[in-house]
Amino acid sequence: MSRFNRNASRILRVALITISACVPTLLIVDVTTISVAQEAKRASAQPAAGGEMIARGAYIVNNVAMCPTCHTPRTSDGKLDPKRWLQGGPVVYQPSEPTANWPQIEPRIGGTLPASPEQMVTLLTTAVWIDGNELRDPMPKFHMNRADAEAVVAYLRSITPRQ
Ligand code: HEC
Repeated sequence: MSRFNRNASRILRVALITISACVPTLLIVDVTTISVAQEAKRASAQPAAGGEMIARGAYIVNNVAMCPTCHTPRTSDGKLDPKRWLQGGPVVYQPSEPTANWPQIEPRIGGTLPASPEQMVTLLTTAVWIDGNELRDPMPKFHMNRADAEAVVAYLRSITPRQ
């Protein structure tokens, strides 16, 4: 074998080893991507039941829509009080300019619901409250999809204040 050939076959061997080392990695990545995509599709296609639905509602309420920021009273050091989770309290956000009719209370929304489950879903999907109007700022005008709104309501109902 000439020196050129020896070198060429060494390069080829290295290339083959590198490729064969990469193939399983590529396969693993691909399988993971598929199962994540399938999981997302499954979660959006089927209404989740029981604990799974409550867990999804907890995630939306506590991590995305941030309802506790307003609807949970604070302790004396300004932190959200875990013992009074979503039990309502004085409005924490005040406007910087005088604004007529600014609410003073953020009502209790956890445990016993302030309205029927269906009325709560209507509020969360259309922003319309039981009196046919939108609630006042700073309450956000949510337009969730029905599955998310139902998960939120399931979680709110599941809360037992630790008082
Ligand atoms: C930025 C503050 C803020 C956030 C975040 C917030 N709210 Fe509110 N919410 C309010 C205020 C203020 C009111 C009172 C509005 C009024 O009196 O018109 C209110 C009122 C309500 C009411 C009416 C209750 C009653 O008895 O009149 C419900 C139900 C409600 N919020 C649910 C929620 C849910 C569920 C979330 C999260 C998905 C949420 N809110 C997030 C501030 C907030």
